[in-house]
Amino acid sequence: MHFTRRTFLLSAAGLAASSVPRAWAQPGAAPGAIRVNGARLRARIEKLSEFGRPLGGSFDDGVSRVGYSVADRAGRDYVLQLMHAARLDTRVDPAANIIGRRPGRDPAAKPIVFGSHVDSVPSGGNFDGPLGTLAAVEVAQVLLERGIVTGHPLEVVIWTNEEGVAFGNGLCGSRAAAGELVAGELDQVWNGVRKADAVRALGGDPDRIAEARRAPGSIHAYLELHVEQGGVLDRAGTPIGIVEGIVAIDRYDCVVRGAANHAGTTPMTDRHDALLAASRLVEAVHEIVTGEPGRQVGTVGRLEVTPNAPNVIPGLVRLTVELRDLSAEKLLRLAGDVRGRAAGIAAATGTTIELAQSSHHAAALAAPEVRAAIERSADDLGLAHRSLPSGAGHDAQMMARLGPMGMIFVPSIGGISHSPRERTSWEDCSRGADVLLGSVLAVDRIRFGNPSTV
Ligand code: HGY
Ligand code: MN
Ligand code: MN
Repeated sequence: MHFTRRTFLLSAAGLAASSVPRAWAQPGAAPGAIRVNGARLRARIEKLSEFGRPLGGSFDDGVSRVGYSVADRAGRDYVLQLMHAARLDTRVDPAANIIGRRPGRDPAAKPIVFGSHVDSVPSGGNFDGPLGTLAAVEVAQVLLERGIVTGHPLEVVIWTNEEGVAFGNGLCGSRAAAGELVAGELDQVWNGVRKADAVRALGGDPDRIAEARRAPGSIHAYLELHVEQGGVLDRAGTPIGIVEGIVAIDRYDCVVRGAANHAGTTPMTDRHDALLAASRLVEAVHEIVTGEPGRQVGTVGRLEVTPNAPNVIPGLVRLTVELRDLSAEKLLRLAGDVRGRAAGIAAATGTTIELAQSSHHAAALAAPEVRAAIERSADDLGLAHRSLPSGAGHDAQMMARLGPMGMIFVPSIGGISHSPRERTSWEDCSRGADVLLGSVLAVDRIRFGNPSTV
């Protein structure tokens, strides 16, 4: 059955009028305020933080748990144990996504999928990914403890290499599920490792990667809890964010070629300084992106100088240009402007500048029906909420290709993320997990009435 707002509300109202206990008689009423065990969730986030912690460091020093690394494997193994304790039937798919399944009353029903990632950026925070992942496991644990069986099967997922620090393109596991892998991607080499071997080392099977693909329409809904990573909720003092949509992200690899030469004997007029050209390009990206109204953002996050020696004029610079906005058309236009400025900079500095697109992650809108379910869950818990877009990319934008998607945000203190200073209060972590639990049950109720107790 295809979701439409009307069918969703009618079915919820119908159910409310017919077979549900008084407490749920109002259309869309969530099944009371079932809550997670916040202390257990906190302890698990703190434990997961140990995998990839700097030597001699503490929780406050964040993590480096880059995809496919030893720390990533250790973190995944830890969460896998928790999934087993929650009696999830786990498997690792060919893209190395970990999927923990819990049967529903109707085995033929499409699964409700929810989860996040455990890999991080280098020197990242403890909440970006781990909160959504461990909250998903906590939801399964609470349903087990309360003896609640949902109508739909549930699938808790840990997506592989969401950050894309390894191999330069993110959302790897969820892109495999959505059929968005790039041709030849498994042959890429990064830090001397071929991607296929990295996937295999994590328990995947690159030779069968196509089997990680899930058909569009094959899921009932996808939900993800995540820290906002921006400052909107924190500034507003609002505990819950309901995501409207996730931005498109275009990444470009840029190569600036000049001529390495002696820093002492080469007159300034005879230089082909690749770093001078690259520096002007960095400035140009900033000028172009800030040169028009809107929420677009542009970042040069990685820059490598060769030979990177104090007494050598840089002959080669590799850098990344990343552009984000809800409008893919605007991103293409901005990229065209960057190319135009690059041509002028190259001519002025006697260098060459090549810009090649390395990835495109399309924007994704959250499904109104799922947003309504999240809203009901927050209301039932008495939590204030507000709608907002996501400036960060998420696996949820890939899952939106397979079915109705929704994301729940909780505040990032100071709007800081991708940093050891990334912080979300333990109370907000717990509230977010409560809303995730309520949302899973609300999304499930659309079909099977209220969760039965066994
Ligand atoms: O880069 C992002 O937006 C996300 O944190 N992976
Ligand atoms: Mn994330
Ligand atoms: Mn991130």
